[in-house]
Amino acid sequence: MTPLDILIMAAGKGTRMKSRIPKVLQRLAGRPLLHHVLDQAAHLGARSAIVITGHGAAEVEAATAGAESAAGTFDLKFVRQEPQLGTGHAVQQAVPHLRDDGTAVVLSGDVPLTQADTLRALVAASAGDRLALLTVDLSDPTGYGRIVRDAQGAVQGIVEHKDATDAQRAITEVYSGIMAVPARLLRGWLARLTNDNAQGEYYLTDIVAMAVQDAVPVVAHRITDALQVAGVNSPLQLAELERAHQLRTARSLMEQGVRLADPARLDLRDDARTGVRGALVCGQDVEIDVNCVFTGRVELGEGVHIGANCCIANARIAAGAVIHPFTHIDGEKLGATVGAGALIGPFARLRPGAQLGREVHIGNFVEVKNSTLADGAKANHLAYLGDATVGERVNYGAGSITANYDGANKHRTVIEADVHIGSNCVLVAPVTIGAGGTVGGGSTITKDVPPGALGVARGKQVSKENWHRPAKQPKA
Ligand code: UD1
Ligand code: CA
Repeated sequence: MTPLDILIMAAGKGTRMKSRIPKVLQRLAGRPLLHHVLDQAAHLGARSAIVITGHGAAEVEAATAGAESAAGTFDLKFVRQEPQLGTGHAVQQAVPHLRDDGTAVVLSGDVPLTQADTLRALVAASAGDRLALLTVDLSDPTGYGRIVRDAQGAVQGIVEHKDATDAQRAITEVYSGIMAVPARLLRGWLARLTNDNAQGEYYLTDIVAMAVQDAVPVVAHRITDALQVAGVNSPLQLAELERAHQLRTARSLMEQGVRLADPARLDLRDDARTGVRGALVCGQDVEIDVNCVFTGRVELGEGVHIGANCCIANARIAAGAVIHPFTHIDGEKLGATVGAGALIGPFARLRPGAQLGREVHIGNFVEVKNSTLADGAKANHLAYLGDATVGERVNYGAGSITANYDGANKHRTVIEADVHIGSNCVLVAPVTIGAGGTVGGGSTITKDVPPGALGVARGKQVSKENWHRPAKQPKA
C-alpha cells in the first residue's frame, strides 16, 4: 500500500458565517469541523496530515495541536498560506512537506461528513499512479467546478463555474473538492499552475487537464450522497449538517436496539469543556424520549428510561434507573453516577461528583453536588445537598439545605444511615448527624447530633390567646 499524506485546506475566511471564530473551528456535534476532518485522516491510517491555515491561523493551530493524539497516530503539521491565492496556491504551500513515495489526499477543513469508506474507495481508485477525483451529481450545481468528459466519458478537466460556458454549466456532475493524487505527480503539476482565469486564482482543479495532457489516467469516483461532500459556508448549512450527523448517530443507536421516541430529536455532542468525545453507550432496552441532549461519555444501563427534555453529560446511569423529564445531569470532569433502580426528577439537577446508590430518589427542584447518597436515600422536593455524605435510607426533607460554604472554604456534612431530616432545615457544615437521628423541621443545625437523638434548633412556638390582628379602619 502507498503511504497516505492528507492535505487539509483550512485557510479560507468563511465570510458568510459572520463569526469571529475561524470557520474550521465552528463546531458540529460539539467538535470543531477541522477535527472531524482529522478523524477521517485517522480512519484512513494516514502517515501524516498537513493543515493549510491562513485566516485565524494561530487560533486554528492552537485549537488543533492537541487534537492529534485523539485523532490518531499520524504526524500533524501546519503550513500557512498568506495571502490566499486559490486552492492550487494553498496546496503549493504544503508541497515542501510532501514525500514523493506517497499519495496525497486533498480534503477541506469545512467538509465534515465524508465517510471513511468513500475516501478508501477514492484512494483505491488512485492506485498509486492515477489522479482520482471524488465527484457528485447535484440538481443545482451552481458555483461548483464541473466535470468535463469527452464523448467516450473520459474526464478531460474541471471547469470552474465562473469560467464555464453555458453548455458546461448544464453539467450536473461536480468536483467535490476532494481528490487523491500521487505526490510526485502533484508536485510537477502545481509548478505549472497559472492564475489566468475569471477569478485570478491558482486553481488546484487545473491539474486535471495537465494529467490528461501527460497521459496520466484520471478517474472519477462518483457518489450520490451529496451530504458527504457538503461544505459549511453559513450558519444554515452548519445546522443542516448537524442534523444530518445527529440522524446518523440516532440511526446507529437504533440499529443497536436503543428505542428513540424520535430519531430527529436526539443530540450527542463532544464536551467542549473537557474535550471528552461524545459517546452514548447503552445496554439493552434503553428508551429515550424526545429532545434529549447527551454530552461527553454517557453510559445507560439495561432498561434505563430517559424522559423528554433531559440534558445529560459525563454520567453513568445504572440498570433500571428512570430519569424523568427536564432533568439536568452534568458530571463535567468528576462524573456523576446514578445507581440501579433510582428515580430522578422531573426537574432534578445532578452536578459533578453526585454519586447516587441503588433506589435513590431525587425529586423536583433538588440539586446534588459532590455528594454521595447511599442506597435507598431520598430527597424528594426542593432541596440542596452539596459536599455531603448521606447514609442508606436517609430521608431528606423538602426545602432543606447543606450550608457547605463559609465564603472561603467548602465543608462536609455527614448524614448517617436512617436519619430523618425534617423540612426547611439548614445543616451548617462541618456537621454530622448520627445514625438513626432526627432533625426537627425548620432547624438550623450547627452542632453534631448524636446517633438516635432528636436535634431541634428553632424558636419555641408561643401561642397568644384571643389575638386580634390590626384591622383596617373603614373609609370616612
Ligand atoms: C473548489 C473547487 C471547485 C469545487 C468546490 C467544491 C477549485 C479552484 N475549485 O471551489 O471545483 O467544486 O471547491 O466545494 O479548487 N482555500 C484555501 N486557500 C485558498 C482558497 C481556498 O485554503 O486560497 C480553502 C477554503 O478555505 C476551503 C477550500 O479551500 O476550505 C475550498 O475553497 P472554496 O473557496 O470553498 O472552493 P472554491 O474555490 O469555490
Ligand atoms: Ca473560491
